[in-house]
Amino acid sequence: MGQNIIEIRRITKKFANARQYAVDDVSLNIPKGAFITIMGSSGSGKTTLLKMVNRIYEPTRGEIFFEGQNIAGLKVEEYRKKIGYVIQQIGLFPHMQVFENISVVPKSLKWDKSRIEERVNYLLELVRLQPHIYRNRYPSQLSGGQQQRVGLARAMAAEPSIMLMDEPFGAIDLITRQSLQEELLEIHKKLEKTILFVTHDIHEAFKLGEQVIIMHEGKVQQFDTPYNILFRPANDYVKKLIATESIFEKLRVLRVGSIMTPIQSVPQNAVPGAREDEPLSSVFGKFIESENRSLYVENSDGRIVGQIYWDSFQSIPTFKNGKIEYYV
Ligand SMILES: Nc1ncnc2c1ncn2[C@@H]1O[C@H](COP(=O)(O)OP(=O)(O)OP(=O)(O)O)[C@@H](O)[C@H]1O
Ligand SMILES: [Mg+2]
Repeated sequence: MGQNIIEIRRITKKFANARQYAVDDVSLNIPKGAFITIMGSSGSGKTTLLKMVNRIYEPTRGEIFFEGQNIAGLKVEEYRKKIGYVIQQIGLFPHMQVFENISVVPKSLKWDKSRIEERVNYLLELVRLQPHIYRNRYPSQLSGGQQQRVGLARAMAAEPSIMLMDEPFGAIDLITRQSLQEELLEIHKKLEKTILFVTHDIHEAFKLGEQVIIMHEGKVQQFDTPYNILFRPANDYVKKLIATESIFEKLRVLRVGSIMTPIQSVPQNAVPGAREDEPLSSVFGKFIESENRSLYVENSDGRIVGQIYWDSFQSIPTFKNGKIEYYV
């Protein structure tokens, strides 16, 4: 089991009186430290799946292992404290101020006051809410985006090893949403937490997920890298799902890191021409505008970590023979 924090074995959920399975024979391995997004239409079973991982629902059949242990055998209350859960509706306690909302789980774990104090301030800074301004506000005195940030801080409060996030940015305007996405990516990079993140926004799924799970009618249709989902869809459902994305849209949601060639030794005079997290569409533009046929790629610390080649674009299936082909 080792590197998988969660292993899901043939899990099925059928609600009483329901005709169909909400989750239908799903098996998944979630590697420790991964950022995985789950995408699917409304009613495809995403929330039900997360709730079974968090033991809010018990599965009809199948088993879930957390760090190698069958969760059915763990004490629910203790197990849940190891999991950070951001629910689909923000779900802050309305009668509690921000500080109290965030400190619920640490308090129940009997952390001492100064440790809680320090942790809440740290988390508020992390989600970019200045503690002295926001800590004593009630949820009703915050904007939707600020409430989401508090929800995120609350889920991280007791240093859980995994975060389950159910459409956390669903009800937020595009600009705020983009900055929350960037912040979450930063937080993930910094803290190396495992994140399972549900969304029905294809761009959000591909931007955030190192791997993406596509669900439909309770089943996993494909669990793969954004690149493979966009260019090697596993079945007709996935093909249809991404058919609306033009080739430029696809390049826009993929990052340079997805097709770059890593390098170990960097020539002295090498100058970076692209960033690892830059969209492929912008590098495509750079190639077209210049004579360059390869660029050095730097990571967020400014270190050169790889190269990207014009020819790499040729290896993208839809660029076959130098022509752009579309899915229909
Ligand atoms: N408590 C419940 N009792 C009965 N049926 C339920 C219950 N919760 C969910 N369902 C049904 O199970 C199926 C999957 O629901 P689920 O909430 O997991 O979907 P979802 O993928 O999260 O959808 P959305 O994107 O709309 O949030 C749906 O058909 C839903 O009606
Ligand atoms: Mg849902």
